[in-house]
Amino acid sequence: MSPFAGRRIVLAVSGGIAAYKAVEVCRRLVDAGAHVVPVLTEAARRFVGEITFSALASERARLSLFEDDDPIPHVTLGRQADLILVCPATARVIGSYAAGLSEDLLGATLIATRAPVVVCPAMHTEMWEHPAVQDNVRLLDERGVTVVAPEEGRLAGGDVGAGRLAAPESILAAAAEALAAGAQASTRDMVGLRVLVTAGGTREPIDPVRFVGNRSSGKQGYAVAIEAAARGAKVTLVATVRRPLPESIELVLVETAEEMRAATVDRLPADVVVMAAAVADYRPTAPALDKIKKTGEARTISLEPTPDILAELGCGGEVGTLVGFAAETSDVLANAEAKLRAKGADLIVVNDVSAPSAGFDHDTNEVVLLAATGDRTTVPLTSKRDVARAVLDHVATHRAAH
Ligand code: CTP
Repeated sequence: MSPFAGRRIVLAVSGGIAAYKAVEVCRRLVDAGAHVVPVLTEAARRFVGEITFSALASERARLSLFEDDDPIPHVTLGRQADLILVCPATARVIGSYAAGLSEDLLGATLIATRAPVVVCPAMHTEMWEHPAVQDNVRLLDERGVTVVAPEEGRLAGGDVGAGRLAAPESILAAAAEALAAGAQASTRDMVGLRVLVTAGGTREPIDPVRFVGNRSSGKQGYAVAIEAAARGAKVTLVATVRRPLPESIELVLVETAEEMRAATVDRLPADVVVMAAAVADYRPTAPALDKIKKTGEARTISLEPTPDILAELGCGGEVGTLVGFAAETSDVLANAEAKLRAKGADLIVVNDVSAPSAGFDHDTNEVVLLAATGDRTTVPLTSKRDVARAVLDHVATHRAAH
């Protein structure tokens, strides 16, 4: 069956030369069985008349917040949608969505929806590569919005470069994937569960200005927390870094392994704990109270072990399902198996941090899930949000079996 059959899609069209390509996307969605409601910005109508969309779509094109009897058309559109597809997305629309502005019907609908959103940028190369646009795109991506990267090719005015709207096939594939993921998230299989997640690398002070740290960005832990909240869990995130996060998640910022341990243990019992943080194994034995001055001599810093939080939780009996991560660079699976047993976890997410595009500071990850039951699942290179989904699917299976 078509992934679009019976699904309600708001096709949000903003004003760029690529707006004419949204006509083809609209037609293909309708042919695939979707119920398509076009929303056009004022600028979009300078490129393609609303009558074209009204004729091809399932409903007439919507143009303004104030055009008909419904006093809250943005909320109605946002609530009813299974997916919002912004195609093409101009720099302005991307910027106002990232900033949470509701300056027209399209912008207001984006803010008023809980449906998955797919954004297809199209603009000149200089605009696409501008740091402001790139920052906004990154922010949307971190919030779980699917961004279909533009392609290289011919642009308006005869120029050639990056910024051309992605091909309709790529846009439809991303839309189908987002719909499937949205349907999964909307199962809300974690309602009523207390979930505790840790994220980021701990920082162990050497003196007031220096620390022993690691390369963890916290992105994977944040993705787990956001996914658990989307599934209805009550989530607390104990993290060493601050990143965008839905209001519903309680954020506790910490620095050291000891602080992370205290914040985590304080919040027990929990139905699920996911230790995604890269906790330092050692800390300076005696951090200096004042900045250590340069002497020109060699220096040795003495280190002592930190508490192993995962192992402590593994023998405490206050956690329903305990998930650990294993960052490895060699003998990956054998080392991870040993960690699973040694720490008493129910699941270990194995990360080969030496692999390209996986692990520290990437937006993608490639993992193997090792369960205490002996189950082994490979999650091929994908977004950290998808990895989070796979981890929580396993948690659901574990809970169902106990
Ligand atoms: N972990 C922890 N407390 C520590 C060290 C690690 O809770 N002091 C947790 C991590 O959050 C992760 C798991 O243990 O979920 C494995 O972390 P990792 O760094 O891969 O393994 P280590 O136990 O530190 O072993 P090694 O560094 O020797 O590989």
